[in-house]
Amino acid sequence: MDKYEQVIELAKRRGFLWNSFELYGGTAGFYDYGPLGSTLKRRIEQIWRETYVVQEGYMEIEAPTIGIEEVFVASGHVGGFSDPLCECKCCGEAFRADHLVDKIVAVADSLNNEELDKVIKENNVKCPECEGDLGETYEFNLMFKTNIGPGAGRQGYMRPETAQGMFVDFLRLARFYREKLPFGATQIGKSYRNEISPRQGVIRLREFTQAEAEIFIDPNDKKHANFSRFANTVINLYSDEGQDREEVEKMPLGEAVKNGIIAHEFLAYQIGLTNHFLQRVGITADKLRFRQHKKDEMAHYAIDCWDAEIETDRFGWVEVVGIADRTDYDLKAHAGVSKTELSIYREYSEPKIVTQFVVKPNMGKLGPLFKGKAKAVADALKALGQAELEQDNITVVVDGEEFTVPGEIVEFADETVKISGENIIPHVIEPSYGIDRIFYSTMEHAFEEEMVAGKEDTEEEARIVMRLRKEVAPVQVAILPLLTREELINPAKSIEIQLKQKGLLVSYDDSGTIGRRYRRNDEIGTPYSVTIDYDTLEDNSVTIRDRDNMKQIRAPMEGIADLLHELIYMGKDFESAGKAL
Ligand code: ATP
Ligand code: GLY
Repeated sequence: MDKYEQVIELAKRRGFLWNSFELYGGTAGFYDYGPLGSTLKRRIEQIWRETYVVQEGYMEIEAPTIGIEEVFVASGHVGGFSDPLCECKCCGEAFRADHLVDKIVAVADSLNNEELDKVIKENNVKCPECEGDLGETYEFNLMFKTNIGPGAGRQGYMRPETAQGMFVDFLRLARFYREKLPFGATQIGKSYRNEISPRQGVIRLREFTQAEAEIFIDPNDKKHANFSRFANTVINLYSDEGQDREEVEKMPLGEAVKNGIIAHEFLAYQIGLTNHFLQRVGITADKLRFRQHKKDEMAHYAIDCWDAEIETDRFGWVEVVGIADRTDYDLKAHAGVSKTELSIYREYSEPKIVTQFVVKPNMGKLGPLFKGKAKAVADALKALGQAELEQDNITVVVDGEEFTVPGEIVEFADETVKISGENIIPHVIEPSYGIDRIFYSTMEHAFEEEMVAGKEDTEEEARIVMRLRKEVAPVQVAILPLLTREELINPAKSIEIQLKQKGLLVSYDDSGTIGRRYRRNDEIGTPYSVTIDYDTLEDNSVTIRDRDNMKQIRAPMEGIADLLHELIYMGKDFESAGKAL
């Protein structure tokens, strides 16, 4: 068994992850989170919220998971959100063509379909399932289609990213933030992609959870007010050029910006924040790197993108977060399709005096001539240049209709005017997290099998322990009465109530030997176990056991909730927290 199999076996057995629809044989690309998995996932999401919503101030919104067609036409997903599909001519199995050759070429997802077919042919790549010949590669759109309303209804799509909800709500958000850049919005929720061949557990799902922030910034000011927080943070950077040399550089973010490796401070700050978050939820620092997209691999909307990648045992380096500078691509695209200006007014610190070419159609005369179309004709005239206006008869086109305006009723001139501000289209910096991939990596990095002294102390036995960070563990304290006797159950229940009131996640477990209960809790990553025994009745104290080193201390029952809270959240030292046993 490799580590992936060990983690998934444990995850299924202990209620973290189950194949969806198991009762009916299941289907690829869908997983259920069981009681412990669901809690662990929520803990990760909660820390994300605390990081982005509470600390950074990017308020959370909730848009529908089904979108109307216009949204995804504007975003480019209807036209181009596809992966290269290649089917086996023999068994009919479908594969991502770029995944079939990613061990042969360096950046397989930058190849077009002809190039992929060429690599497949030249390297005699066969069907991984049956060794059959592979057919030609073609594009497969990953969007799930649906109908909105009865009958043919209106075409809808399940959203493939949460991001579009924030772009569509841009004007509302701008007003909410009183049009002051930078501002941002976040969403945590489901996204849907009809992945071609999801064979990697929760790494590649057809329904998955994203946590995304869309941060709207001034295009002329990509500095970050709080950049000093991460300027000295050393990050494993795998830059575009570094990839050519196959070299990951350890570099402070400040230096990376100075050297032009990371385009600007705002992007670098987001890399620093992502690095901080991922380590906080339990990702091992040296199994984390940030890889810059190669120019030909970049998504259609981005000018720079860095992926946070985590090293896993079976799948190697896996992208878990994409941090992109999406520029004004999305706002311009939605402005075009919705025919609504998506910009904000920015007042200059000092008004500017500028010379402007001003066109003044005489509305008193345009009105009787063009009636209901007069305003549109005037607007069309204002868009013309001097050469076009210096005619006896000026021609404009409004809604496909041609209008001729006598030149003498349109005045124009260069005028000096005072301008107090301008409309700008903000740029967008987007950290896009895949929570399921982070969930799995957190489990894999926490998973350990170690040999410990067995019952007789002479033999050794294997202990599986999940060294989950204390604040993400789905059970933070196990309460274990030594025996199921009323005199022990009563104080145990009283401790359970106190800990719950303190907001700790607790489980009450009284079945099996104490040794087995410790092992069960080690496996699910419970940082502390509290044992209530007959000494408790004598001296009102309990035993607390530390998951990681299996050391035990004796501590008074009074104040136990505060003590455990400090151990879990405040880094209190365990051994000095009570009397060593
Ligand atoms: P990949 O190249 O692995 O398909 P991607 O580049 O398409 O990923 P993005 O479109 O950048 O991924 O999506 C943002 C994040 O959403 C990813 O970093 C990942 O964590 C998560 N994600 C994307 N697709 C899936 C999926 N099918 N299952 C689980 N998580 C996903
Ligand atoms: N929002 C980025 C992505 O999901 O592709």
